[in-house]
Amino acid sequence: MVQGRGKFITVEGIEGAGKSSNLDFMQQLLEAQGISVVRTREPGGTALGEEIRKLLLGHRHTGMSRDTELLLMFGARAEHIARVIEPGLASGAWVLCDRFTDASYAYQGGGRGIDRERIRVLETWVQGSLRPDITLLLDLPVADGLMRAGKRSEPDRFEREKESFFNRVRNCYLEIARASPERVHVIDATPRLPDVQVHIEQLLREFIQVSTRA
Ligand code: TMP
Repeated sequence: MVQGRGKFITVEGIEGAGKSSNLDFMQQLLEAQGISVVRTREPGGTALGEEIRKLLLGHRHTGMSRDTELLLMFGARAEHIARVIEPGLASGAWVLCDRFTDASYAYQGGGRGIDRERIRVLETWVQGSLRPDITLLLDLPVADGLMRAGKRSEPDRFEREKESFFNRVRNCYLEIARASPERVHVIDATPRLPDVQVHIEQLLREFIQVSTRA
């Protein structure tokens, strides 16, 4: 049913915000509308990107410098764009991505303290004019997110950070949302999943309607 270039949808949020369950829900909703979906994630999404993900999230390089961390994120991203995101969009599929460059601003910028202008240089270099068409920011208090994430699995290299780190990440995400209200939609991720999904469904249906009109 959808003609031409696909849409690029990203989902962001701190750990424990419920990205995975909500991405499953979004994928089902889009596919039920006859839209073909490429579901992917960052860091990762390609064979090389998944190797880089292991370096970034594992514990073998705990003392990695923040610049290395940022550059590895963008290295994985360059590969992801070239091999998955651009070809997907060009084929008319909608690309549904678990995190993208807002996460670099939030984690490496807000969390680690890298100047956002440096991140902007990489964004322009690696992405050209590619930006998400719509971003859902699942927002909840840091303590709640960390409690949910802690129950799930062993903490990765990021999940071992202190609460103050995640407060900076969350604040940076909210700042991005305030600066780009037409793209970034804040979803309160505190309620029970079905209640969160009522909000997501409404937003996504409106987006589908606007995107497939004309
Ligand atoms: P997750 O996708 O399973 O939540 O884990 C990915 C981790 O990587 C998460 O802690 C956020 C972090 N991350 C960054 O720090 N910068 C980035 O640009 C991206 C895409 C992820």
